[in-house]
Amino acid sequence: MLNSLHYLAKPITMKYKRILLKLSGEALMGNKGFGIDQERLMEYAKEIKLAYDAGCQVAIVIGGGNIFRGIQAEKGGMDRVHGDYMGMLATVINSMAIQSALEGLGVQTRLQSAIKMEQICEPFIRRKAVRHLEKGRVVIFGAGTGNPYFTTDTAATLRAIEIEANVILKGTRVDGIYTADPEKDPTATKYDTVKFEEVYNKGLEVMDMTAFTLCKENNLPLIVFDMNKKGNLQNLLMGEKVGTLVVA
Ligand code: GTP
Repeated sequence: MLNSLHYLAKPITMKYKRILLKLSGEALMGNKGFGIDQERLMEYAKEIKLAYDAGCQVAIVIGGGNIFRGIQAEKGGMDRVHGDYMGMLATVINSMAIQSALEGLGVQTRLQSAIKMEQICEPFIRRKAVRHLEKGRVVIFGAGTGNPYFTTDTAATLRAIEIEANVILKGTRVDGIYTADPEKDPTATKYDTVKFEEVYNKGLEVMDMTAFTLCKENNLPLIVFDMNKKGNLQNLLMGEKVGTLVVA
């Protein structure tokens, strides 16, 4: 009963009109050691539907680490570029999974890939992506940037800038950015807001440097928040203090 009540969309005045939600592939594993946990997938889809129902324009980038990690494959002797392309394909699998889950809930979606695979999805075309968002479709960007040596965080940041998203939301398993690693330092405290400069100077691990620099140089606000806490995404969009906001 509580659960179904929870999923009633609240009447929302949105703080952000257009968002880019970055999800990690690992998070989709749930408690499994590999692949996609259907329950977790549906939980995410429901959270995204709430934002969509409230009129927010939602774009999504999802990682592929639950299926394949290029960097680890390199340690095992695989060519890095080859491994990265396999990782990009893994993001397309996750994108298709989230697309299917969302459409099962009645959410209109379009999937665009940075690597052409026209039997499965549209190619990435920025102007078309923006049009889809304006028409009320959730747009999922698959295959990273389409280039090796870039992370999905970088792909998410790049797409967010391209579609002129108001904010990039990095959904993680932690509830924000801390002054130090809270698992190692019990005195660590969470930031509500922090400047890019401070994150950089203190070497806080938020995103890889390419993604981080893109955000900083383009004045794109970033919020790191716990995507596994029910209602968090909606509360954040309503302007509640959720996670950590990184600003210029
Ligand atoms: P509007 O032009 O705004 O109406 O957008 P639309 O996406 O509805 O039109 P379009 O005719 O481009 O697409 C219709 C359907 O075909 C949508 O589900 C698209 O995702 C899909 N589609 C479009 N282009 C491709 C493609 O290159 N490959 C695949 N697999 N599907 C595509």
